[in-house]
Amino acid sequence: MNAENAHLVTKSGKAPASKSEPNPKKESPFGATIWMDGEWLAFADATTHVMAHAMHYGVGIFEGIRCYRINDKESAIFRLDDHVDRLFASAKIVGIKLPHTREDLRAACVELVRRNRQPECYIRPLAYIGQGPVGVYPGTNPPINTFIATWKWGAYLGDEGLKKGIRCQISTFTRGFVNHTMTKGKITGNYVNSALAKSEAIANGFQEAILLDTEGFVSEGSGENIFIVRGGKLKTTPLTSILDGITRRTVFELADSLGLEVQEVRFTRDELYVADEAFFTGTAAEITPISEVDRRPIGDGSPGPITKRLQSEFFAIVRGEKPAYRRWLAPVLFG
Ligand SMILES: Cc1ncc(COP(=O)(O)O)c(C=O)c1O
Repeated sequence: MNAENAHLVTKSGKAPASKSEPNPKKESPFGATIWMDGEWLAFADATTHVMAHAMHYGVGIFEGIRCYRINDKESAIFRLDDHVDRLFASAKIVGIKLPHTREDLRAACVELVRRNRQPECYIRPLAYIGQGPVGVYPGTNPPINTFIATWKWGAYLGDEGLKKGIRCQISTFTRGFVNHTMTKGKITGNYVNSALAKSEAIANGFQEAILLDTEGFVSEGSGENIFIVRGGKLKTTPLTSILDGITRRTVFELADSLGLEVQEVRFTRDELYVADEAFFTGTAAEITPISEVDRRPIGDGSPGPITKRLQSEFFAIVRGEKPAYRRWLAPVLFG
């Protein structure tokens, strides 16, 4: 405890950990450098003001991108161009004018991974309305701050989850009405709904939440799209109430190459209960089997053959083992 916080004592009677005294035993997952507004900053220097508009009203947009190791000297960022395109689409939806070009942001992602020397990492570009006029109306030309951070992130729903599947609950929270929640944008404020649903699912002993849309049809997970398999055919939610997932699009192409049919149709929670297989797709979640929903096993409760096949194709592609899909990989070279 230092002199400054000597008067602060938590309920447990212990002094709060000082921000300036990092736990030496714990290695930070974050890259040492953050790209912010065109500059390369040390992690601790990439800060924002408490009066930034986004802090109060949630107007920001972001992406979640993964980089995978290909070999000792090379990694690859998966579908980087598609993620940058979606960032620009999100900006258009919320009316943010991004002060950087696609090419600048793309190059900054590649260079940041290289500088941070994180061959396997998650990349988070985020742009938000910064400190300008106070009040909900940000003005016609508000300041926009943009940053990109990287961190080491293993399997989002756990290694065990990737192998054996995860237990889910249908959330008591509903995916937003389409004229309220602009789901085609990856918008920071939208994630209040996701955070509530995910926290509730975990508090109830599950690993992930599945949200229904306002009409009661299955929508998506708190941060994933969802697929079911029945009689060898795949179904996934149409785009109406969901994020247009890049992993979802990847699964469409993989399924096609394997001769599997995918229908984009609405389905109900009871159709999900009686599916042979179900799985989530997402940059963070990759392809994660769903083993159980509302305490009902999906199929026999273990990942089915189609899920496993798609999963192994997916991991072969992102790790550069399938030359036909190299077009999706943006190389990062470590000298
Ligand atoms: C709400 C939501 N749905 C779906 C996805 C999956 O999208 P993607 O595959 O592009 O990561 C995500 C993750 O970004 C998400 O947050």
